[in-house]
Amino acid sequence: MKPVLIAALLAGTAAHAQDFNAVEKGRKLAITADCAACHTGDAGEFAGGVPLETPFGTLVGSNITPDQATGIGRWTKEEFRRAVKSGKAADGHLLYPAMPYTDYANMTDADVDAIYDYLQTVPAVHNEVEENQLPFPLNMRVALYGWNLVNQTDATYETNPDKSEEWNKGRYIVMGPGHCAACHSPRNLTGGEKTGDDFLTGATLENWHAPDITADPRLGVGGWSEDEIIAYLKTGHNAYDTASGPMAEEVALSSSKWSDGDLASVAAYLKEGEVDAPASAKAPDPLDAQSASMQAGAAIYGDRCSACHAADGKGVAGLYPRLSGAPLVVADDPTSLGRVVLAGSQAGATAAAPTGPVMPSFGATLDNAQVAAVLDYIRNSWGNAAPAVDTGDMASLRKDLQTQ
Ligand code: HEC
Ligand code: HEC
Ligand code: HEC
Repeated sequence: MKPVLIAALLAGTAAHAQDFNAVEKGRKLAITADCAACHTGDAGEFAGGVPLETPFGTLVGSNITPDQATGIGRWTKEEFRRAVKSGKAADGHLLYPAMPYTDYANMTDADVDAIYDYLQTVPAVHNEVEENQLPFPLNMRVALYGWNLVNQTDATYETNPDKSEEWNKGRYIVMGPGHCAACHSPRNLTGGEKTGDDFLTGATLENWHAPDITADPRLGVGGWSEDEIIAYLKTGHNAYDTASGPMAEEVALSSSKWSDGDLASVAAYLKEGEVDAPASAKAPDPLDAQSASMQAGAAIYGDRCSACHAADGKGVAGLYPRLSGAPLVVADDPTSLGRVVLAGSQAGATAAAPTGPVMPSFGATLDNAQVAAVLDYIRNSWGNAAPAVDTGDMASLRKDLQTQ
């Protein structure tokens, strides 16, 4: 073999290895960014068609396979980057912010490019998707120009030199690909994510409450050890909480598959929190244990709940969540708690914990006042303290759950 040919062959192998690395990096990032949650439906991997309920109506995830006619096969890298980070499709139309581009805007161009390289290698699926199924006038994309003016910052993510590499890496994952704020930050009147002091302080979406995950020791995860945060993200369980609903999906599709290094970085960042986070709000005084509601709640808890969650609210490690000292239980907004008691819940199964234990539903055996009473009890016992639950809120939650 002539030397020149060998050199060419070697160069070919090196180029190939480089492509492979870029594609593999992109594959992992697509998992961290959970693109599949909204883009993988019955039509195949990344072939779109997944309906998403938004406050404005139903939107559908697009086909992002490399199909030339119905996917992104003809898109350039630049067009793809603009869609993922700025919400503008290849033909110039604006995307609805159900696609979390305001979060992905924090991703580096190199990371978005790697996802592009990866998506070019998945099987092309011919699947025509009608993304916009909103009624008039919400279907007018033109309104999105205004929305972007208010809500799209030209975020280019900056590292903080005063913090450790691990903290910075965790923060990048949380703010960029992980798009945790898309569910965990409250929204402004136009539906844009609030930032600053409101960042990650919790939000309610589709009758799920995504709790405060700041470093606040009472309402956030500051009181959890890093190992407990890691266990939650990797398996969907720790002593305090079992991921359900949208978070169970996030764990199953995304964080259960993260590397140990990524998990440790995110845990370190969440536990330490932002540099200028507001001081923890003072805990409210617990409700009076002698009140009618607390007394009724104590009796219901003893009969219906203590077999699993234990009389002292400490639960059973690995099986039944701990209610005492759990931030979720004392959250200002009791929507998730009401939902779990009315409708029950099966913890999401993950590779690390394949069968989830079940929380029975009490919607048929407890009326709205009883649900409110037992929630008052668990929110104001064993050192917990939180505002009273409104019976009317439980009534409307029950109605929403029935019509879903
Ligand atoms: C929370 C749901 C959600 C997630 C997560 C999500 N998307 Fe989307 N995406 C959407 C929706 C909905 C649309 C369609 C929006 C519209 O029609 O205005 C969309 C549109 C797109 C488009 C435009 C396609 C076209 O033909 O116009 C691209 C490209 C895209 N997403 C890529 C991605 C990538 C890459 C990821 C992961 C990094 C991702 N998306 C994660 C919901 C999501
Ligand atoms: C699609 C919406 C969604 C996304 C995206 C999401 N979460 Fe969640 N998260 C939730 C909901 C809803 C809950 C409450 C689940 C429950 O009560 O079982 C939750 C719960 C949690 C909890 C438990 C808090 C507690 O007090 O019990 C942690 C920790 C958490 N999420 C971290 C994250 C991180 C880190 C990210 C980003 C990598 C993230 N979440 C992304 C919706 C989401
Ligand atoms: C048969 C055992 C069992 C009984 C009885 C039971 N629970 Fe649960 N409970 C569970 C399991 C398992 C979970 C976790 C399920 C999940 O998150 O998907 C859970 C979750 C919860 C949660 C959510 C806590 C968190 O951090 O995610 C609350 C609140 C709760 N239960 C309250 C109650 C109340 C109030 C009663 C009585 C009315 C009750 N439970 C009865 C097993 C039980």
